[in-house]
Amino acid sequence: MTVPTPPQPPLVDVRNAEMAEAWNGAEGADWAVHADRYDAASAAFDPALADGARIAAADRVLDVGCGAGISTRAAARAASAGHATGIDLSAPLLAEARRRSAAAGLGNTTFVQGDAQVHPFEPGAHDVVVSRFGAMFFGDPVAGFANLARALRPGGRLAVLSWQALARNEWLLTIRGALAAGRPLPEPPGNAPGPFGLADPDHVRRVLAAAGFESVDLAGIPGTVRLGADPEDAFGFVSGLGLIRGLLGGLDDDARRAALDDLRDRLAAHATPDGVRLGASAWLTTARRVP
Ligand SMILES: C[S@@+](CC[C@H](N)C(=O)[O-])C[C@H]1O[C@@H](n2cnc3c(N)ncnc32)[C@H](O)[C@@H]1O
Repeated sequence: MTVPTPPQPPLVDVRNAEMAEAWNGAEGADWAVHADRYDAASAAFDPALADGARIAAADRVLDVGCGAGISTRAAARAASAGHATGIDLSAPLLAEARRRSAAAGLGNTTFVQGDAQVHPFEPGAHDVVVSRFGAMFFGDPVAGFANLARALRPGGRLAVLSWQALARNEWLLTIRGALAAGRPLPEPPGNAPGPFGLADPDHVRRVLAAAGFESVDLAGIPGTVRLGADPEDAFGFVSGLGLIRGLLGGLDDDARRAALDDLRDRLAAHATPDGVRLGASAWLTTARRVP
């Protein structure tokens, strides 16, 4: 009698294990439930990614850290005679991505659970690698981007969105300002896995050159982040973010209430006829795999 092989867990580099746990756990579950809100929050940057990726009809596209797959579906529509593959660490987000792609009738998408830093991609099997804020988390960025370079054909293109430094992102400064509640908050570590992992242009250039890319260009993309339809809606969304839970830690009940009231007021100050919008700045990094 043959014993069926149990499904193998995806390969995850030890340096990304904590990230995998977070995105497979509470953080990923929250993103999956609120996928529309997260999609809308950073929608202002989608046209820049499309411009940078220049996807042609027959292209085979790899979307890194695809989450619920909004950029994978955009890539699949552009690559109408090609294919788009999304890779992500998060099972709940991939389930949402598959559901949304099926609902959209996109037959040319595949979603894979894995760590893009070490996933055994078929060498040279992609024409374009894109990422919508999903490539900033590699524990070893040179290894991660070298793995993406291997997945690209020689001369293949890379187009990646990432956040610029905290000081250029009013939305995060505003949230942190309220929740600091008078405490000095530590600056996010530079060049470390996280939202600001690709914020420093010199670091990005060094990483990509070492990983086998050339013609590296970083274009600053100014925009806004839309946090909700109105202040109450924005407050409901923002107060559920993982980031908030971390910032509220260490405050007693009164200080916590005061900080959340302050956050509510600060969000209300940014209400516009088109929702609660705060300033944001991203980098669009484009490069080519060395032929
Ligand atoms: C900020 S979210 C962005 C998700 C999506 N691209 C979007 O725009 O909504 C970052 C995503 O990157 C994924 N991620 C982080 N590190 C990863 C890795 N090493 N390999 C694959 N995915 C990763 C997370 O699971 C998460 O879904």
